[in-house]
Amino acid sequence: MKIVIAIGGSILLKDLSARRFKIYGELLKDISSEHKIFVVVGGGIPARNYIKVVRDLGCGEAQSDSIGIEVTRINAQLLLSALGDYAYQRVPKDFKEALEFQEFGKIVVMGGTEPSHSTDTVSTILAEYVNADLLINLTSVDGMYNKDPNKFDDAELISEISSEDLVRFLEGKDHKAGTYEFFDRTAAQLLNRSKIPTVIASGKDPDNLIKIVNGENIGTKII
Ligand code: UTP
Repeated sequence: MKIVIAIGGSILLKDLSARRFKIYGELLKDISSEHKIFVVVGGGIPARNYIKVVRDLGCGEAQSDSIGIEVTRINAQLLLSALGDYAYQRVPKDFKEALEFQEFGKIVVMGGTEPSHSTDTVSTILAEYVNADLLINLTSVDGMYNKDPNKFDDAELISEISSEDLVRFLEGKDHKAGTYEFFDRTAAQLLNRSKIPTVIASGKDPDNLIKIVNGENIGTKII
């Protein structure tokens, strides 16, 4: 399969240490022996911290986004260091570069591209570009719930949702630098047109990645 894997900054950069990069690096190496993979890395708390400083300096949303993008690219660089020879050792700045870099037959790792969305959208556009068979989005929550699990004990995980319903759910959610919902609504709109099979699941347990690749039902599937 051709698989695009988005790993949220909230997962990879939880404690800003080498540990998570090493764990995910090893998993990605394993998966790459059977599948062609592309990875998109998020910004996490470091991106939010930088965005706050830029905002406090009086800069607007686009500039705040740009700082966020720079941080995602640094994070991508860290994952490249963990992957070593298994990955092409440059971070593509756009999708055409990602296509070029894949020609070397190694894992391609990228961060953000341009202002106004999150790396959820980057991974969705990349999935369209490379005609992916599967898009996996690893984040800090188990998937999509029917109500806020932080507020309601009886909140239930939704195992499957159509892209149309996902777009409706995300309607009106925040769209500012560093504040995207559990899934970016621009990404949901893109999935609605391309219908690439997508799974949103927790990356807190790294083994979830292997389970999803092996077809186990984890998280929320978008159909
Ligand atoms: P993230 O994709 O990490 O956003 O990019 P997020 O959803 O806020 O954070 P996670 O998923 O919990 O890690 C960090 C920020 O960088 C900017 C946005 O401001 C985003 O919030 N960004 C990122 C862009 O403007 N364009 C991109 O292509 C990527």
